[in-house]
Amino acid sequence: MNGKLIENALGSLDNSYAPYSGFNVAAAVLTDSGKIYTGVNVENSSYPAGICAECNAVAKAVSCGERKIRSIAIVSRNAKAGEGSEGGYTSPCGICRQVLREFADPKELKVIMAKSVDDYKEMTLEELLPLSFGPESLA
Ligand code: THU
Repeated sequence: MNGKLIENALGSLDNSYAPYSGFNVAAAVLTDSGKIYTGVNVENSSYPAGICAECNAVAKAVSCGERKIRSIAIVSRNAKAGEGSEGGYTSPCGICRQVLREFADPKELKVIMAKSVDDYKEMTLEELLPLSFGPESLA
C-alpha cells in the first residue's frame, strides 16, 4: 500500500501551484474507508494565504466525510534546485503535523516521506509530534 500511496502523490505533483517558492509538494492520504485522497500545495501572491499539500489532502478527505487517516505519503520537487537535482525526503511542517493529529492516532499514523516508490523514510506521527495536543485533550 505504501507504493500505491506514493504513486498517487507523485501522480498529482504536476498540479502543485508553487510559482513563488518553486517548491512543489504533493501528498496522498489513505483513510479508514480504504480510499485515497491527494492534495498539493497552493501558493498565493499574498504569501501567508498559501496552503500546504498535506493540509489540502486532509481537507479533501474530511470534506468527503472521512474522519480517520491511516497513512500519508509526501513527495516534492524543487524547481529552483535545477535540472537533474533529486527531490529530498519531505517532512511535514509543524502546522501539517497538527492538522494530521486531529484525524489520526499518532501511534498508528504512518508518515511516508518519499523520493520515489522504492526510496522513502517512514515514521509515525508520534515520532514527528511527541506529546501532542489532540481532541482527547479537550474531553
Ligand atoms: N509545503 C508543503 O506543502 N508542505 C510541507 O509540509 C512543507 C512546505 C509547501 C508550502 C510552500 O508552498 C512551499 O512548500 C515552500 O515552503
